[in-house]
Amino acid sequence: MGETISLMFDAQTVAERVGELGAQITRDYAGGALTLICVLKGAAFFLTDLSRAIGGEVDVELDFMDISSYGAKTESSGIIKINKDLTLPLKGKHCLLVEDIIDSGRTLGHLIKYLCLKEPASLKICAFLDKPARRVVFDHVPDYAGFCIADKFVVGYGLDFNERYRNLAGIYSLDL
Ligand code: IMP
Ligand code: MG
Repeated sequence: MGETISLMFDAQTVAERVGELGAQITRDYAGGALTLICVLKGAAFFLTDLSRAIGGEVDVELDFMDISSYGAKTESSGIIKINKDLTLPLKGKHCLLVEDIIDSGRTLGHLIKYLCLKEPASLKICAFLDKPARRVVFDHVPDYAGFCIADKFVVGYGLDFNERYRNLAGIYSLDL
């Protein structure tokens, strides 16, 4: 109760930017293969749109992992728990980690370390949103980013607050 949401990016703006990212990834990986790694649940919407924006010139496969890092608060604990692991081997593959948002960078740092143990040929990062002002762990910068945003808590397009708002087609800032 008492929460208000304000539109930041409407569905059309989101779709246009995802299309641009898909085109860029298509150019960068044309003629090769790419394994998209989706971090559930937040990145699920982005992953399905992004994968369809990547052209047939790239041989795409998808895998999903589910991790917990946030709980019911709006601060990252920095500890990730793997609830569901990948099912495909990554060894020798070109991989792209698809994230909803990079905030403190703690989750990303842990994930990269974990994925590198699987010996991919390459591992790049694609984040739909980036909040650089919030960064605490500076080890990785996204190779592809949809939008850089200010220090606001956002919901929609997969992003939640206590599991709600994921279904909104646009991105909204949340005021409590
Ligand atoms: P980090 O470890 O602080 O970078 O947090 C990354 C994770 O926290 C993201 O994958 C999201 O699940 C969640 N998160 C961070 N900022 C937001 C936000 O503004 N809205 C919703 N979820 C967020
Ligand atoms: Mg997430």
